[in-house]
Amino acid sequence: MINWWYTELGEPEKNKLLEAFSEKRMTLSRSVREVEELFAALLHVPYTVMVNSGSSALLMALLALDIQPGDEVIVPSLTWIATAQAPGILHAKVKLCDCTSTAPIIDLGQLEKIVSAKTKVIIPVHLNGRECDMEAIQKIASRFGTRIIEDACKAMFSKGKNGFLGTIGDLGCYSLGMISLVSVGYGGLVVTRSKEIYEKLKKIRDHGVQRTPESYPYLGFNFKISDLLASLAIPQLQNLEKRAQSSVALHDYYSQSLKHPDISILPIDKKSGKVPVYAEAYSERREDVIFYLQEKGIQTSRYHLPIHHAHYLRADGFFPNADRFARNSFILPSGPSQKIEDISFVVETLNQFACSCGANA
Ligand SMILES: Cc1ncc(COP(=O)(O)O)c(C=O)c1O
Repeated sequence: MINWWYTELGEPEKNKLLEAFSEKRMTLSRSVREVEELFAALLHVPYTVMVNSGSSALLMALLALDIQPGDEVIVPSLTWIATAQAPGILHAKVKLCDCTSTAPIIDLGQLEKIVSAKTKVIIPVHLNGRECDMEAIQKIASRFGTRIIEDACKAMFSKGKNGFLGTIGDLGCYSLGMISLVSVGYGGLVVTRSKEIYEKLKKIRDHGVQRTPESYPYLGFNFKISDLLASLAIPQLQNLEKRAQSSVALHDYYSQSLKHPDISILPIDKKSGKVPVYAEAYSERREDVIFYLQEKGIQTSRYHLPIHHAHYLRADGFFPNADRFARNSFILPSGPSQKIEDISFVVETLNQFACSCGANA
């Protein structure tokens, strides 16, 4: 079986892990600080806080902005549910926005219509390394003093017009979960350019506690990550440029070699420095294609159900573009350790799809 995601941790990661283990660094320690410094240098951002997931990063970012029950937070419908659950957990009012008809990122026209003086935060999601137009979003947000938290959980090291995605808004959030350029199992990162927010984030990660002398200035929680897990990120970060290049090369290969009239690769503007985490295919015959690939030993992953289908978000309105992308899109075998011969087999198999499915149709 060719898995839809394949990343291998090797000797360098093992050695870093053993070093942390033998020094009994189980809790937040030297590796976490090293990861934070490496990210700061790589992303050209002054302040970084490593945490235990991308979801925690989002929740911490909202806590850092003092989001209160009833405050309005705008989120796109096409994302992983974590983007809405973070404000939902704080009892904020989550308002959903459709994506564009041509790309699975927030529709600025609709955003313009739903944003108001009640909107405390907009969370654009840079899905799979694509840039939501940050200049336009900043312009919209500035009209109401709205803050921006970039969900760059799936856009690590992807360059936007004005810097790396995730480093442009008030805060940016990244995931270091398995489906990422840098995977530690479960992990995340919050970044900001504000020293004040940074100092607050460090406390929020530790239950919002001021340690010496002890006081409780903020609402927080235990968002800390073990040094054992953090140690795994170090060799990957030292190799980030190469990992990003291999991700771009994999996407290029799919885009250039797939020649099927009913299946396309969703485009990403890689020439301007965007880094896709994976390759997404699009087909109105998606279920047939997935079944056909499965029969040939090729695993895929469907796009997530858009989050307006989560009853507890009480979404109003229609989200036809999100529904269409979600219905027809799926992820082809990707990841830093996929073998080129496997990808070549996937493309060859996809290019033959018409013959076998045509026969069944
Ligand atoms: C867009 C988006 N936001 C947030 C998250 C949450 O990240 P994590 O799984 O590290 O909690 C994910 C994870 O896949 C994601 O895709």
